[in-house]
Amino acid sequence: MKKETIQIEWYHYDDATKLSPEDQFLLNEAHEAAKQAYAPYSHFKVGAAVRLQGGIIVRGNNQENVAYPSGLCAERVALFHAHATYPDKKVEAIAITAVSAKTILDEPVAPCGACRQVMAEYEHRGGIPLKVIMQGQTGRVLVAPSMAGLLPFSFLHDFLDKY
Ligand code: THU
Repeated sequence: MKKETIQIEWYHYDDATKLSPEDQFLLNEAHEAAKQAYAPYSHFKVGAAVRLQGGIIVRGNNQENVAYPSGLCAERVALFHAHATYPDKKVEAIAITAVSAKTILDEPVAPCGACRQVMAEYEHRGGIPLKVIMQGQTGRVLVAPSMAGLLPFSFLHDFLDKY
């Protein structure tokens, strides 16, 4: 028996002004997207913005449904829209944020597991790191330089090719 460990790295910025101008812009797009979310059941509005190669930005937000599981997270709305519109563009980065009806959200918002799986697929397909930028309504920003650290032991298509 051998114990193995995985190290992941992320960057912590005290606030969004410390990000590069293009990442600040992307995060701002996510904030704008959050305002337009359709979240009448959770009252938790999530916004995502995806940057594709060439600087194309695509927004998404959570779309809820009275049949709860029929709704979809902001990240997947953004990524599926991006990929449906620009199927050959690689995904460089995604910014994620949220607004809560209860209180000011000042903690970074991390993507759910299902969204991580979708991000991992696009990162693997594009062959370039997919940067993940996370912030609440305000406050510190966490940046994961790639999806690899956010979803260890990913189930990816080369596994299916093999077996
Ligand atoms: N939600 C997202 O949009 N992204 C996530 O990564 C986590 C959760 C949405 C789904 C639902 O509309 C609301 O947040 C509460 O779970």
